[in-house]
Amino acid sequence: MYFEALRDISYGLYIVTSKNGEKMGGLIVNTIMQVTSEPAKISLCINKQNYTYELIKKSGVFGVSVLEQETPLVFIGQWGFKSSKTVNKFENINYRMGEYGVPLVIDHSLSVMEASVQSELDVGTHVMIIAELKRGEILKEGAVLTYDHYRKVKRGKAPKTAPTFRND
Ligand SMILES: Cc1cc2nc3c(=O)[nH]c(=O)nc-3n(C[C@H](O)[C@H](O)[C@H](O)COP(=O)(O)O)c2cc1C
Repeated sequence: MYFEALRDISYGLYIVTSKNGEKMGGLIVNTIMQVTSEPAKISLCINKQNYTYELIKKSGVFGVSVLEQETPLVFIGQWGFKSSKTVNKFENINYRMGEYGVPLVIDHSLSVMEASVQSELDVGTHVMIIAELKRGEILKEGAVLTYDHYRKVKRGKAPKTAPTFRND
């Protein structure tokens, strides 16, 4: 029953990316949040089984792309329901390398950021990461894609690896 109440918590949707050596990866998350202002820090909650977590653990840096409301479901499907271990999610999309060595997805993104990992908290299935924001850039103006819009208007779902899986 209380899982239904959890649906009223608001989030945005983001692509989080990382790179270690030649290997790049990225995934959809709803769990980016600003936690402090001076210096600016953000948090990310990531499933231990997601391949991008391995890349973040090794490199200590990650990129964030803030998705626009018009982002197609098929684009979210590519980043949120497949593993970067076996699929090259960067094929046929626009991205560029950031100053801190992470690929930043440009397609359907309103802004991009780069962050450096400071600490991690093991919360069971997931790890809560606190990272310092190193750079941020606005690419275009527009409405952000909220989780509420993704669920109610686009009729999107979340996979088992998402923190919100049971509330969907
Ligand atoms: C709407 C939505 C929200 C998601 N939120 C998260 C999240 O906050 N944390 C997380 O670890 N996975 C989340 N996921 C699941 C990952 O995007 C998914 O497991 C992805 O395929 C992992 O890719 P990777 O193995 O290449 O890292 C979400 C997926 C969707 C569709």
